[in-house]
Amino acid sequence: MQTRLLGATGERLSALGFGCMGLVGWYGTRNDEEARATLIEAIDRGINHLDTAASYQVGENERFVGSIIRDRRDRVFLATKCGLARGPGGSVIVDNRPETIRSSCDASLERLGIDHIDLFYLHRIDKTVPIEESVGTLAELVRAGKIRYIGLSECSVQTLRRACAVHPVAAVQSEYSVWTRDPEDGLLDACRELGVGFVAYSPLGRGFLAGNFRRLEDLPPDDNRRSQPRFQDENAAHNARIADLVREFAARKGCTPAQLAIAWVLAQGEHILPIPGMKTRAHLADNLGALEVKLTAEECREIAARIDELGVRGDRHPPAMMQALDR
Ligand SMILES: NC(=O)c1ccc[n+]([C@@H]2O[C@H](COP(=O)([O-])OP(=O)(O)OC[C@H]3O[C@@H](n4cnc5c(N)ncnc54)[C@H](OP(=O)(O)O)[C@@H]3O)[C@@H](O)[C@H]2O)c1
Repeated sequence: MQTRLLGATGERLSALGFGCMGLVGWYGTRNDEEARATLIEAIDRGINHLDTAASYQVGENERFVGSIIRDRRDRVFLATKCGLARGPGGSVIVDNRPETIRSSCDASLERLGIDHIDLFYLHRIDKTVPIEESVGTLAELVRAGKIRYIGLSECSVQTLRRACAVHPVAAVQSEYSVWTRDPEDGLLDACRELGVGFVAYSPLGRGFLAGNFRRLEDLPPDDNRRSQPRFQDENAAHNARIADLVREFAARKGCTPAQLAIAWVLAQGEHILPIPGMKTRAHLADNLGALEVKLTAEECREIAARIDELGVRGDRHPPAMMQALDR
């Protein structure tokens, strides 16, 4: 397995990580047996960077992941997150108060059935709590041996700098893919400068760039992607031209669209760690193949430029979640 360093921590993580969010819900049709077999095979194939969160299926995701990693703890670098919950009617609750961070950490440890978390993120930045206070609380958890490293998800450059002044930040996690390039606006550079790893979530555009679906009607009724602006009928037909472009470039490189999308993210910097989500062994095998696809800087620029020409329609999250971003 190819590896990459996690920022300045000295930890070597698999170049391909594993996003666990969709294993037991959220996207597509649930099949727990296949999901379990997929995660086990991923670990056996050398993927050691696993990403979950307290909010995924309200703790059920952590319980599921925990049931698998407990017997494989020495082969896994486990990341989870606190501070984000869903309220009624799709509302978003961000809470980074010290007492919430502490109790959430204990609850995650309990659900996961492990005695420490390798990387503990603030899932979103709470604008009502100074970042110094939240990171100070995370630093206490490091000293207590409950977590090893601190991460911030969807933070601004300014928040990252303030956090680093309190305690080293091991990783920033944000959405990054060939059609979501917001982190190029200073965040990727700041991570490189500060020795912070950059974990790229949704590298496959939630499956859309991989050709997994093209229209809203392709998705099951309870699929979370039905609430995503980019997949609404008024945007999906236009955005499908971007998926077509990815497919065209993939054909030129002799790889699959998913491999091209992951290879593009990997090619943007050695400090970048993509965590695609997958719940079938077929997708796992396909995604591992991305590690063999090498794109030149010129090829990467050409793909991004062609996508820029077309333009992406729709925000990358529903309105309540867009408002919860730290920008
Ligand atoms: N920090 C945050 O706020 C945040 C937000 C979102 C996600 N995340 C993390 O990032 C991870 C990945 O993001 P994501 O799951 O949103 O999106 P993603 O990785 O871009 O896409 C996942 C989707 O792509 C499909 N897929 C995977 N491999 C494929 C292949 N080779 N061919 C065709 N389709 C393929 C999956 O289908 P199957 O499931 O059927 O295999 C799934 O529907 C999550 O699991 C989570 O850990 C973090």
